[in-house]
Amino acid sequence: MTEVLAYLGLGANEGDRERNIRTALSSLGAAPGVRVVRCSKLVSSALFGEGPEQGEYLNGVAELATSLPAPALLSICRALEVAAGRRLPALRNHPRPLDLDLLLYGRETIDTRDLIVPHPRMWQRPFVLLPLRELGVDLALMPRPVRPLVVQDPAKFAALCSHWQAGACTTGLVPTMGALHPGHQSLIRKARAECDRVLVTIFVNPLQFSAGEDFAAYPRTLERDVQLCAEAGADAVFAPEPLQMYDSDFCSNVAVGAAAMTMEGAIRPTHFQGVATVVARLFALSRPHNAYFGKKDAQQLAVIQRMTLDLGFPIRVVECPIVREADGLAMSSRNVYLAPADRIASTVLVRALRAAQQAFASGERDRDRLLQVASSVLLQEPRAELDYLELRGEGDLRLLPAGPVVLGRMLVAAKFRAGKRVVRLLDNLSLAEPSEIGLSAGSVLFQGDRP
Ligand code: PAJ
Repeated sequence: MTEVLAYLGLGANEGDRERNIRTALSSLGAAPGVRVVRCSKLVSSALFGEGPEQGEYLNGVAELATSLPAPALLSICRALEVAAGRRLPALRNHPRPLDLDLLLYGRETIDTRDLIVPHPRMWQRPFVLLPLRELGVDLALMPRPVRPLVVQDPAKFAALCSHWQAGACTTGLVPTMGALHPGHQSLIRKARAECDRVLVTIFVNPLQFSAGEDFAAYPRTLERDVQLCAEAGADAVFAPEPLQMYDSDFCSNVAVGAAAMTMEGAIRPTHFQGVATVVARLFALSRPHNAYFGKKDAQQLAVIQRMTLDLGFPIRVVECPIVREADGLAMSSRNVYLAPADRIASTVLVRALRAAQQAFASGERDRDRLLQVASSVLLQEPRAELDYLELRGEGDLRLLPAGPVVLGRMLVAAKFRAGKRVVRLLDNLSLAEPSEIGLSAGSVLFQGDRP
């Protein structure tokens, strides 16, 4: 069988570091189908990146000639790490007696759950780059993995998702309309923590805007969005054009039920049909294991949960908490359009919800009195034009009868006018969970909030 040249990153910072590395190399050389051709100098350096206090690492690179497929070589490396005393599960940047990374396997690119080759982080690591250079490897000739991959064509996006899923990767989908902010990034980070590959979609979906709404003016900032996706750990960004999503003959829509006709649906009658249609289309293209949505749009979340059940998509819909500005305003792509005075006034939404929450915490249970508490706060702010204020059941947001409530979510929408521009803001809060204030990093706590 033909041999392939493979390069292995070597590292150790516990025990007799050099002995651990040399023992592993001689065991590797004794394995059938593996020859250790040469090894770079071993050099000591401090931990690269963030991690707990720990001793210096000894690092180098070994050149191997192997007839083994890459996954088989990787299994031998994992077994040698365990034999050297490495604890499992291996935590990133924690001390270890031995670390063996498959950096390069010929000129192949491999992108499966257990193995990405060339190693995606090697270009940032001097303790890998210098030994590779010492061994005469020209990295310019090697395929460099790009993250996130940016794809415009739906067929290519579907193929990429299938490719990762065929490599045993779990996939998490984060649908967005772009103009990303830390609220969106929190969804991407949650997906990153739970899935092997994270797919972000950026598409200002014409179907969910009706005539006279802000479809044309909706902010489009793709280049910056891709950077924010990279920062939060996305693997792919799908950013199609409207005609690629809906060709000129497109005419099928997902009709949504009565629950989508109240609140947002009463004001924007075709909105949720447009949302459900695009989300169903994205689900069908990517077939993710999980899909991440913010509670910021609680009614949208309820519509999508219902649609996922009704149409039988085998997808876990993951609810993510609302991320807020330091003064409590829920983050939104539309906040930038608020005039300075309206930006100050806009905190009235969260203040009204918090007042109802506090009344609930103090024992008030009557639906209409809780609504009055919130509405009296809203009435003190003349710049806010109220669209609706409702107290609904948790989860499916069903109507609650008058009288005492056990659990509930209060939802509010209001308009702020700046000249000709109208900015609509939404917010909502669970009555029973003060911790659900969803403070962002660096935010201040409201008086009375639990830390
Ligand atoms: P968009 O408004 O871009 O929001 C994308 C996702 O980010 C939604 O799930 C939304 O609830 C979440 N999100 C927005 N602001 C948030 C915040 N402050 N905290 C937490 N999550 C937040 O919602 C849409 O796009 C579209 O309707 C879409 C679902 C993509 C369909 O076109």
